[in-house]
Amino acid sequence: MQVLFATSNKHKVLEANVVGKRFGVEFKQLKMSYPEVRDNSVSKVALEGVKYVYSKVRKPVVVEDSGLFVKALNNFPGSFSRYVFDSIGIQGILDLMYARKNRQAYFLSTIAFHDGKVLKAFEGRVDGLISRKPSGSSGFGFDPIFIPKGSKKTFAEDAVFKSKVSHRVKSVEMFCKWFK
Ligand code: IMP
Repeated sequence: MQVLFATSNKHKVLEANVVGKRFGVEFKQLKMSYPEVRDNSVSKVALEGVKYVYSKVRKPVVVEDSGLFVKALNNFPGSFSRYVFDSIGIQGILDLMYARKNRQAYFLSTIAFHDGKVLKAFEGRVDGLISRKPSGSSGFGFDPIFIPKGSKKTFAEDAVFKSKVSHRVKSVEMFCKWFK
């Protein structure tokens, strides 16, 4: 079974397909950008995004919105993670976290699906800590500074662990179970 995945981020599609394979679901990248609503809920952003994309392609499609939520920063950057990554980047987050003892953070991922009739969202979460310095080179975004619960390595140092526990693995798993 194939479903379109509207995103410009090839890493998201790669990660989704690792999970999809287990369920016989293939995500086909649709390189299409869509307006992102300004809202601090990733689910709201994903749902509005998928409605827009469906209105253009008229085929069953998913979009994903995700973000990093840092406790000591009142859940900043949250749904604005891409903008923050592109502007102040990893070092910007580490600077904001300088001298902070509470390093707790989590990632959220919402997969939203629409086929013109059904509109559904699936949310996955992974908890962890913000590291003191960046480590590792795999993955994307804030992977080099996120140490998931149950590991001592960042997502960027241990892609295998990421592929088992990440927020995206969970949201995609929920979607695949339902989609089948
Ligand atoms: P968007 O979902 O395309 O709006 O972007 C989400 C942003 O959150 C990305 O640009 C990354 O900065 C960050 N992000 C989301 N998921 C991950 C992940 O799995 N690893 C690292 N950073 C992520």
